[in-house]
Amino acid sequence: MKILIINGPNLNLLGKREPHIYGNESFENYLATLQKKYSAIPIEYYQSNIEGELINKIQECGFSDYGIVLNAGAYTHTSVALADAIATVTAPVIEVHISNVFKRESFRHHSFLSPVCRGVICGFGLDSYRLAIEALLNQ
Ligand code: DQA
Repeated sequence: MKILIINGPNLNLLGKREPHIYGNESFENYLATLQKKYSAIPIEYYQSNIEGELINKIQECGFSDYGIVLNAGAYTHTSVALADAIATVTAPVIEVHISNVFKRESFRHHSFLSPVCRGVICGFGLDSYRLAIEALLNQ
C-alpha cells in the first residue's frame, strides 16, 4: 500500500496559522520526519485550498493501491461533494484533524466526511497523521 496525505484549505500555512491551535511546525518539515520514519512505504502529499481539486485528487488515486489520510480542513464541516467522492472510491480514507474539534466551536462538531471514512483521528496535533498511517498499515 502507498500512503497519500491530502491536506485541504489553509493547511499550507501550518506553522504560521494560529500556532496556539495548530503548533509551530510546517507540514513540509513534519512530512520529512514521517517519510524518514516510514522509509519503506511511499508517502505522497497533496495540498489544495480548492474543493474541486481535492475531489479530483481523491478520484485520481482512490481506485488504486492507496490508503488516504485526509485533513479536509473547514470543508470537513461543509462539503457534501467531498463526502460523495470519498463514498465513491475504493481506497480507505481516514479523516484526521490536528486539533480536537469537539473542544472547539459547535460548527466544528459536525463532519460530512466521518460517515463515509474508515475512521477518524483528531486532537493529537501533527501526530494525528502518524496515527492514521498506523491505522492504515494495520488493516
Ligand atoms: C482542522 C479543524 C477544522 O475545523 C479547521 O477548519 C481546519 C483544521 C484540524 O486539523 O484541526 O482547517 O481540520
